[in-house]
Amino acid sequence: MTSRILIHRVRAKNFKSIAACDVRLGALNYLVGPNGTGKSNFLDVLHFVKDALEGSLESALHLRGGLSEVRRRSGGHPTHFGIRLDFQLPDERHGFYAFVVGAKPAGGFEVQKEELCLGQPGYGPSYVVERGMAKTHSAEVFPVSTPDRLALVNAAGLPEFRPVFDALTSMGFYNLNPRVIRDLQKPQDGAHLKSLGENIASVMAYMERYAPQDKARVEEYLALVVPSVHGVQRVGVGHMETLEFRQDTAGAKHPWRFNANSMSDGTLRALGILVALFQGGGEDRPALVAIEEPEVALHPAAAAVVRDALDRASTRCQVIVTSHSPELLDDKSVDVDTLLAVSTEEGATVIAPLDEASRETVRRGLFTPGELLALNQLVPDPIQGIDPDSKQMKLFGADE
Ligand SMILES: Nc1ncnc2c1ncn2[C@@H]1O[C@H](COP(=O)(O)OP(=O)(O)OP(=O)(O)O)[C@@H](O)[C@H]1O
Ligand SMILES: [Mg+2]
Repeated sequence: MTSRILIHRVRAKNFKSIAACDVRLGALNYLVGPNGTGKSNFLDVLHFVKDALEGSLESALHLRGGLSEVRRRSGGHPTHFGIRLDFQLPDERHGFYAFVVGAKPAGGFEVQKEELCLGQPGYGPSYVVERGMAKTHSAEVFPVSTPDRLALVNAAGLPEFRPVFDALTSMGFYNLNPRVIRDLQKPQDGAHLKSLGENIASVMAYMERYAPQDKARVEEYLALVVPSVHGVQRVGVGHMETLEFRQDTAGAKHPWRFNANSMSDGTLRALGILVALFQGGGEDRPALVAIEEPEVALHPAAAAVVRDALDRASTRCQVIVTSHSPELLDDKSVDVDTLLAVSTEEGATVIAPLDEASRETVRRGLFTPGELLALNQLVPDPIQGIDPDSKQMKLFGADE
């Protein structure tokens, strides 16, 4: 079976609160740590790549308040930030994609360097572009690029680079909002769920048509969270649409139908999480799904259902979640290797697996990760501190 891990390793330099990070990811990843330590910033490294490819580098920066908000603010005043993602495509080819974006002396920004390498270095498709100039490339004719854009946007016009573009832009990032799910929605493309859940009615209709078994699975999980809810489907309301829930009501023989408008925050948010995890039809799914705090608005008893859904979904796509919930992690089945602890050291984000002693306590069943979290004992291994100038943090070229 092909591995469902899209992004194996994330390196970032001077990105928001991250001075330097080198993080290895698995199929399922829980980012845990106190408020304001950089969990969302880490997800934003990946989200930034998607935004910059799908739209433009300028719009990705603009969305975040400009280069000065994205590059790390610190005493050293870094003028650039860099990202490198080591990935594996669904066809099993490995590769990496890296770029550094910096301020221009006269204002504005530019891509100082960008590199893509697919397959064995030196043999597969590859290119290096510096300030808009292609230095090396494997293509017969490499498309013209400009310094203010990522070259991959144009290079994706060539079939050899397209799969990388497709995989990286298929990542989904979710911060589900019950208010948005409750509002009437415009009918739109339902192949991929949008960040807040703003097209969830269209996504449910899409799933009903192209992946009814996945829709049924979403409904089964939802019924475990809210046992009175038996099903949910898209309904039209004039030129808009919404979700309709079938729900048992006291004294009624048959379930009543309620629009999203009447449903509870927790029900809508749980549905959003489940749809994010099981969306799409066939192979047309995000290769990576990242969800902010899936536990929000849910009763602690629902945590086991969410945990099971995350586990199951991670066999189909890569899953990353941020969490503050001891309940979500309070089970012996939670693999200690799925945890990434996040903390701050001198104002900079540190992200690493747990130290060996904590891992051993979990492995021996003395504590669950949830219990360690409640005791404030989920902390990154201090020996994994990273020197931004080390060889390990080299963003370009093949790793030795
Ligand atoms: N450009 C930047 N340079 C340095 N620090 C930054 C920059 N942008 C944001 N930060 C810092 O990042 C922190 C917020 O990080 P983030 O939102 O990732 O936290 P979090 O771990 O997700 O917290 P929570 O659990 O509350 O959601 C803030 O303290 C902010 O000061
Ligand atoms: Mg956050």
